[in-house]
Amino acid sequence: MSSHYIPHMKIPTLVFPTSAQASRHVALMIESLIRQNNSANRPTVLGLATGSTPVGLYRELIRLHREAGLDFSRVVTFNLDEYYPMAPDDDHSYHRWMHETFFKHVNIQPHNIHIPDGLTPTSEIEEYCSRYEQMIRRAGGIDLQILGIGRSGHIGFNEPGSMRHSRTRVVTLDPVTRRDAAADFFGEENVPHQAITMGVGTILEARKIVIMAFGEHKAAIVRRAVEEDVTDAVSASFLQKHHDTTFILDQAAAGHLTPIRRPWVMGSVRWTPALIRRAVIWLSLTVNKGLLKLSDDDFREHELYELLREHGPAHRIGRRVFDQMMQTICHDPGACTGTDHRDDLVSAALERSDTGHAEMTVDREKPKTAANSGPSTILVFSPHPDDDVISMGGTIIRMVELGHKVHIAYMTSGNIAVFDHDAWRFTDFVCSFNDLFHIDKEHSQAVKERVRHFLTTKKPGQPDSEDVLNIKKLIRETEARAGALAAGVPPEQLVFMDLRFYRTGTIAKAPIHPQDIQDIVNLFQRLQPHQIYVAGEMSDPHGTHRMCANAIFEAVRRVRAEGQRFEVWLYRGAWEEWEPHEIERVVPLSPADLERKKSAIFRHQSQKDKAMFPGGSDRREFWQRAEDRNRNTARLYDQLGLPEFYALEGFVQWRE
Ligand code: F6R
Repeated sequence: MSSHYIPHMKIPTLVFPTSAQASRHVALMIESLIRQNNSANRPTVLGLATGSTPVGLYRELIRLHREAGLDFSRVVTFNLDEYYPMAPDDDHSYHRWMHETFFKHVNIQPHNIHIPDGLTPTSEIEEYCSRYEQMIRRAGGIDLQILGIGRSGHIGFNEPGSMRHSRTRVVTLDPVTRRDAAADFFGEENVPHQAITMGVGTILEARKIVIMAFGEHKAAIVRRAVEEDVTDAVSASFLQKHHDTTFILDQAAAGHLTPIRRPWVMGSVRWTPALIRRAVIWLSLTVNKGLLKLSDDDFREHELYELLREHGPAHRIGRRVFDQMMQTICHDPGACTGTDHRDDLVSAALERSDTGHAEMTVDREKPKTAANSGPSTILVFSPHPDDDVISMGGTIIRMVELGHKVHIAYMTSGNIAVFDHDAWRFTDFVCSFNDLFHIDKEHSQAVKERVRHFLTTKKPGQPDSEDVLNIKKLIRETEARAGALAAGVPPEQLVFMDLRFYRTGTIAKAPIHPQDIQDIVNLFQRLQPHQIYVAGEMSDPHGTHRMCANAIFEAVRRVRAEGQRFEVWLYRGAWEEWEPHEIERVVPLSPADLERKKSAIFRHQSQKDKAMFPGGSDRREFWQRAEDRNRNTARLYDQLGLPEFYALEGFVQWRE
């Protein structure tokens, strides 16, 4: 699937299958602009943004510089914003971030770089801000402005309430924005309250604007910006008034747009089996009636008359989707097999039911036999050391109980998510333990002293020392062993991969290393699994899940090319859940299964207080979120008129 424009949006909106493809597209746009200007001997003036969104874009531009000789010597840049107050060499300054992430890797001239100065004295700030505007004008204005969008709808740091004609100024950050930045600053209390930002009016003067948004957590605000009317409650909506702005999205960020959520309200659609499923489930939940109770009027009153005409009457369509959903219920996940032709099978089922065999449900069942006859070998990949039990702990418990052999591969150490006080508590414990049993007192005291010194002098946000990183890694490893054991998986079936891309000791990650992929390939070859499970979450706060999933998919491609076959199932849970129409398999959990799953999650003590959704106000603990989610999926099945379960874990099969 390639990129496509979404029709009827108030800002032209282009959607790409992945954020990598989207970033590449924007990089190519910038490349062609720079090359054109360079050959006409003209400077190129770029407006630049920071944050997680443009990282892939900067990476791609660096690649174009290195591999395709893209020359930045005539490029002039103006950054949107900087925290205030903020020293340029501070770990958190946008100055530093821009240099580390982009400027130092290309041949841009230092005097062509402009970033608001976070050290400007308050008494001079007004004058400084108007000078910043003058500099933009003197450079000839911005040719191309790159923007991200905050979950508060901000562009730059123009928070809700910013005026259409606002100029560069000092602003107070929205609580949502400060919470979003909390992880980078190691705590919300360390996030500055103010920032210097270009105004909405300043941004709108750029000749061309590209605004990018990736990940499901941006989907709601993107929809408000491109579908609703212009309002100062969503600064990005002012871009509707600009003559050359494009919104660039990945699929997850486009997920709430009406043409994607409910395409049938926009006009005629092709009623594929997947779309029928989506529409009928939506209808059933909207009118609050089970699938088998839907009437022709329900379809007519909710803009689904076309579907009714093509595939009706209502009871027949409801029955089809009911049957499909029944087939998702799987009591022995180690033995159920999916199919790579789900939609074809469903189409065939639809045809058959159209010709009067609707009652022959047996005929339409997916094959339920295992590819192998005995117990299956299952390999669960857990990006962080607790995703396995948080997201699919119940399924792991069921599989072990049913005699399947479950291996778990922990992909990263997860050490940056451990609090300092925990690292200290464990250091203290080990020293006291060694004392008690007269074990090597001298060495452990020396380490304890080093750790104490480091932690007591550590500044907010300073990266950890090697000692502390290793201690934190150990804490998470032991918790993972305890959590897996609580779910029935013994230590010898666990692998701690410690993939290289994560070993930066900071929130920013390195690219996937070729050896990371090779390690996964080796694991496939050694374990010869029948099924693997992958975290299919594309919006985790720091992109670790996304990177792990992509590394696994690449490894799967390689072993498939050599003839190795196994099913790839995606789970979700730490941050997102599947939409009901997406679910292809649910595993029922009894109250006892769910209690056991929770007790496995409890083993991850260092992750208490860590469950806050990327910037959201959801402060429930992981075990609470897992419980609510699984019970909610069961409730959804109930609402659809399907069997009533206590809790369900949902899965989707990965296909290339
Ligand atoms: C950054 C900036 C902000 C970000 C926005 C999205 O210079 O001005 O508007 O673009 O907060 O941030 P991410 O990309 O981290 O989600």
